[in-house]
Amino acid sequence: MNKTIYLKNRPSGEPSLNDFEFKEESKPSPSDGEILLKSKYISVDPYLRGRMRSGESYIEPFKVNEPIESVIIAEVISSNSPNFKEGDFVTGMLKWKQFQVSKGIGLNKVDPNIAPLTAFLGILGLTGITAYLGLEKIGKLKEGETLLVSGAAGAVGSIVGQIGKIKGCKVVGIAGTDEKIALLKNEFGFDEGINYKTTSNMKEAINKSCPNGVDVYFDNVGGEILDAALENINKFGRLIICGAIALYNATETPQGPRHEGTLIKKSVLMQGFTVRDYIKEFGPATKQLATWLQEDKIKYTETIVDGFDKTPQAFLDLFKGKNTGKMIVKV
Ligand SMILES: NC(=O)c1ccc[n+]([C@@H]2O[C@H](COP(=O)([O-])OP(=O)(O)OC[C@H]3O[C@@H](n4cnc5c(N)ncnc54)[C@H](OP(=O)(O)O)[C@@H]3O)[C@@H](O)[C@H]2O)c1
Repeated sequence: MNKTIYLKNRPSGEPSLNDFEFKEESKPSPSDGEILLKSKYISVDPYLRGRMRSGESYIEPFKVNEPIESVIIAEVISSNSPNFKEGDFVTGMLKWKQFQVSKGIGLNKVDPNIAPLTAFLGILGLTGITAYLGLEKIGKLKEGETLLVSGAAGAVGSIVGQIGKIKGCKVVGIAGTDEKIALLKNEFGFDEGINYKTTSNMKEAINKSCPNGVDVYFDNVGGEILDAALENINKFGRLIICGAIALYNATETPQGPRHEGTLIKKSVLMQGFTVRDYIKEFGPATKQLATWLQEDKIKYTETIVDGFDKTPQAFLDLFKGKNTGKMIVKV
């Protein structure tokens, strides 16, 4: 049989297992020009929450009663296409199904001899590229500057901080447990860490960890942590607005302090982006990340959840901070 995961209804507020439905279908057969794929590793990502809402966005919303999709590493089980052969591994936007057919459009081959397959969902996939290009295009780090990053023990954040160290910056990470803070400092070379869940005054905590102020803030979470970062920003500071997970389940846009005055007085740049804005630069970005990985200048960690049936729970766990590094489901 072929298990599939559908979006049952659009979640309101925090999503739950009730928003997903498992269905069983028969295993499809590839027609002429098609390949049969077996899912191996599924990437679960915070942005999928946005695709569960209706309304215009930079990417099409999921449809209710249709399978959810995300980036998946799959194996070619049989091929009627001249472009793929049995045993090839591919990555691309695929459905949450154990088996599916594809014409191969939008799929890229990945070579398990270059790196473990899961690396193509993290450090050598969209998350690594997001960290690299967000810093390159908006952060424009200079040696000796102070880089602050939230969601620091996550897939994107853990790479951001390490790139900051490669560039000769002081790096401070914000994350949700003491274990994550220890990992940032001991494994990933961050200079300091702040546990936002046990800190009552984030403005003061950032001020203490960044006595020279914050030159670049890479934001993965938004909300009150962004406010506190802004209260410590330096003249000509840059804010890279990558993610806002603290707001993804909000049913109404929360009201916060207004920061226009700070942006003006300190000539601050605050810019959001989606990584696909820079799609033409994915190749060189991946090459640089692969080089750093090979040179042992960058490390990565993953949380691998075993079993296709656990995919919805793994997605929900992102909002509870249960992952360290890239959250991946092994099918
Ligand atoms: N702009 C783009 O193109 C782009 C591309 C990829 C990802 N993103 C965004 O970048 C961010 C990081 O993505 P990722 O894939 O690397 O995920 P991730 O950081 O690996 O996982 C999410 C982490 O967010 C933290 N978190 C959850 N709820 C939070 C809250 N209310 N306040 C503060 N932290 C919270 C949790 O860690 P703690 O234990 O520290 O709470 C959790 O582990 C997400 O917001 C994502 O949407 C943007």
